[in-house]
Amino acid sequence: MATLVINENKKLGTIAPEIYGHFSEHLGRCIYEGLYVGENSEIPNVNGMRTDVVEALKELQVPVLRWPGGCFADEYHWKDGIGPKESRKKIINTNWGGVVEDNSFGTHEFMELCRQIGCKTYINGNLGSGTVQEMSEWVEYMTFSDVSPMADLRKENGHAEPWTVDYFGVGNENWGCGGNMTPEYYGNEYRRYQTFVRNYDAEKPIQKVCCGANDDDYEWTEGVMKTCFRHTPKGSHGFMDLLSLHYYTVTGDTWEHKGSATEFDGNEWYKTLRKALFMDTLVSRHSAIMDQYDPEKKIGMAVDEWGNWFDVEPGTNPGFLYQQNSMRDALVAGITLNIFNKHCDRVKLACIAQMVNVLQSVILTDGEKMLRTPTYHVMHMYRHHQGAELLESSLSGAGTVGEGENAVPMITESVSEKDGVITITLNNLSDKDAGDLEILFTEETEKTVEEARVVTSGSCRDYNTFEEPDKVKEEELKGVLVEGRRLKVTLPAASVVEIRVKK
Ligand code: AHR
Repeated sequence: MATLVINENKKLGTIAPEIYGHFSEHLGRCIYEGLYVGENSEIPNVNGMRTDVVEALKELQVPVLRWPGGCFADEYHWKDGIGPKESRKKIINTNWGGVVEDNSFGTHEFMELCRQIGCKTYINGNLGSGTVQEMSEWVEYMTFSDVSPMADLRKENGHAEPWTVDYFGVGNENWGCGGNMTPEYYGNEYRRYQTFVRNYDAEKPIQKVCCGANDDDYEWTEGVMKTCFRHTPKGSHGFMDLLSLHYYTVTGDTWEHKGSATEFDGNEWYKTLRKALFMDTLVSRHSAIMDQYDPEKKIGMAVDEWGNWFDVEPGTNPGFLYQQNSMRDALVAGITLNIFNKHCDRVKLACIAQMVNVLQSVILTDGEKMLRTPTYHVMHMYRHHQGAELLESSLSGAGTVGEGENAVPMITESVSEKDGVITITLNNLSDKDAGDLEILFTEETEKTVEEARVVTSGSCRDYNTFEEPDKVKEEELKGVLVEGRRLKVTLPAASVVEIRVKK
């Protein structure tokens, strides 16, 4: 039997709530239809934001939302998206399907969406094709309270008070769609652009996000860190509060054949999970490079794009990146979030890509219909980790599942404590076998289980459809035994489990 030992007296750091963040891009049906339907839609909405989706997102306790891209960000000119809607510029979304973007969702609408969801704002600026002045003016427009050209323009457009911009990304994927730059070139551009991202409100300083690497591109991290730390005062932050990392789990061997989201065999199941586990290596190695410049870990890592990237659903626009979401996605979410929790000393923000209707979404819509995906249910259970203290925990005896190079640990876990309640999240990676687990606390005190929840289904290939939206859902996990400081639980095959224990 596998054993998980939890030392409830050893706190290893705070899990930033923003690790549970989301990403929304002007891509396919994420913004339009997924989040925003406009004030005149027959779909129930408040100021254009669809009510069903906002309500579901509130239950998720979304901490932060990143917008407007993605690749879209480095072609986005924010002034196109303000003022009367009928006179907003129509442009072509060159990155995503070549469709017309009418800019009816812009800065005011994004801020309204975040207000309704109750989350922090993460704006991604345009360094690739925009000017320093344009970026600087956007920040002034959003955050300056007094008299200035941009603050006055905002007031003319109906918003007297400034908004809070919690995070500002200075470019996106500038090694690729954001300008095909070298790390040194981008590092210098970053230094220049970020200078003019002003903090107009000293009480609410903007956290600046520098564009980090893709996957295992350690050369990028090294080059950017070196450039940003060069010729700076001792103890500086290299002008950044966070450095990003993007990593998508792609099961197929090429971008042309990424694999189906729903049709997969046992080998592909394990291959996907093995690739998701690689996030641990990526965070460790990029963080080790950051350590050379920032040994005190003042700079956070922002994994602001992560998740499964499969072939689009057959018959849908290839530029819209619409994919289904099965129990395999639930496991990838559970595994990845456990990894982030365990790296909470460095990972301070993460955004699953993307919130609705694009890649590994938590919500899918079809006109007026909406469903919660398996990934939604995992993120809902894991919300208890937000802002909690990571506890020391170690797992033994679980063994591996899967074959050859796709052998993976059978169980992964992370444990945290908040307000006297310990949250344990567990993943059983086996596609067919249940796993018995003993949980042992170091303190000799009687434990009580507050709740035990599970996301699982009859088959690891199950997913929710508009006809059967609750096939995969969060349910009570029965049969957790408590004997003093010892718990015994059986983890169903292909499951994500949460157990909450009173200290
Ligand atoms: O999330 C889809 C795309 O993936 C984003 O626009 C880009 O940043 C990344 O390559």
